[in-house]
Order: sequence, then structure tokens, then C-alpha cells
Amino acid sequence: MADNIVWHNHKIIRAERASTKNQKPCLLWFTGLSGSGKSTIANALDVTLHSRGYHTFLLDGDNVRHGLCKDLGFSDEDRVENIRRIGEVSKLFADAGLIVLSAFISPFTSDRRMVRNLFPAGEFIEVFMDTPMETCEGRDPKGLYQKARSGEIKHFTGIDSPYEVPEQPEIRLDTSIMSVDQCTDRLISFLAERGLIS
Ligand code: ADX
Repeated sequence: MADNIVWHNHKIIRAERASTKNQKPCLLWFTGLSGSGKSTIANALDVTLHSRGYHTFLLDGDNVRHGLCKDLGFSDEDRVENIRRIGEVSKLFADAGLIVLSAFISPFTSDRRMVRNLFPAGEFIEVFMDTPMETCEGRDPKGLYQKARSGEIKHFTGIDSPYEVPEQPEIRLDTSIMSVDQCTDRLISFLAERGLIS
């Protein structure tokens, strides 16, 4: 951080922004391998919440890497910076009172913990897309696993770049055995049990 920077306390605080929306802010953080279903399930949940009148925002890896993070690649260092930026942006949206859905591979435990620590207890919900690697690779929706296997792409998560499995995620979903609707229902029930939605 640069020197001579002083934090300004804003007159409207976080809780006031959320209360005008009649909702409680939180971050659902979808982590998992490429092809595990992060974006699909995050989108489905987004549609459900939106249709019930909640104000949400969805951030996902492929889209954010077209803009905010277009200067970043897939080295360990760049992935750390990618998640740091997304964590901060997610926090800003939550401060604005939104329910935020972020879908990023986010392969490193320490980065996910760093984002968790930006949030008050209970507002960071780690959703581990625990779909087996063979299923993800079999789907290969963008043909990237094939390219990684042939050496055309380097540092591909699950092939020649690590994925650190979450030890205590709030929610675990396996899209090889659960339908999109079942996953969405699980997430909706969890949010309701936590009192984050009614
Ligand atoms: S993260 O590791 O920094 O969290 P992020 O979620 O933003 O990754 O981006 C992952 C997406 O980038 C994948 O869904 C895939 O489409 C694409 N991609 C391109 N190259 C790679 C790579 N080497 N490893 C993983 N994903 C890659």
C-alpha cells in the first residue's frame, strides 16, 4: 500500500445499503476444477435468486479475465493476484448490499482463506464443486483439457498445475451425480437456514 493514505469513513454504512434492499449481503464462492460446473450452478442460482427479487451479482473467471484481470495469466503468481482482485471486488459488491456469486477455480487454499477473511463470520460461503476430475475432463466444454494433455497449454489446473481441495467448505456439490436443480435447491436451502434469504 502507498504511504500517506488515510481511510475515510463513509456516512452511509454497509448495513444501511443492504437494508434499503431488504436483504442480507453475502458471498457464495464457487471453487473447483475447470468443467466442474461452477459457472453453470452459479448462473442457475443467480436466476432463481433474481426471480425471487434478490439483488445479486455474478462474477466469473472467463468473463473477468476479459476486463479487470486481462493482464493476468495462469502462473501461480497471476492466479494469486486474480483471486485477490476478485475478493476485493466481491467485497465491494457485498458492501453495496448485494448477494455476490463468484465462480473461479481459485486453486489455492491460502487465497480462498484470504477472501474469507475479508468477510464477517457467516457471510462467506465456500461452495466446493467436488465433481470428479474424470467427469470434468470428459466434459471438456472448451477443449482445454485436450490441449493441456497434448502440451499445447501449460499450467492447466488438474494437469500440470495444482488444485488444493477445500477441507471444510460450507457446501459440497458433485455435478456428476446431482442435477442443476438439485444443486440449486441445496444452495437455496442453505441460504434460508442461515437466515440470509427468507
Ligand atoms: S484461477 O485459477 O485464477 O481461479 P479462473 O477461474 O480465473 O482461474 O479462470 C479459469 C478459466 O480460464 C477456465 O475455466 C478456463 O476456461 C480458462 N483457462 C485458460 N487457461 C487455463 C489454465 N492454464 N488453467 C486453468 N484454466 C485455464
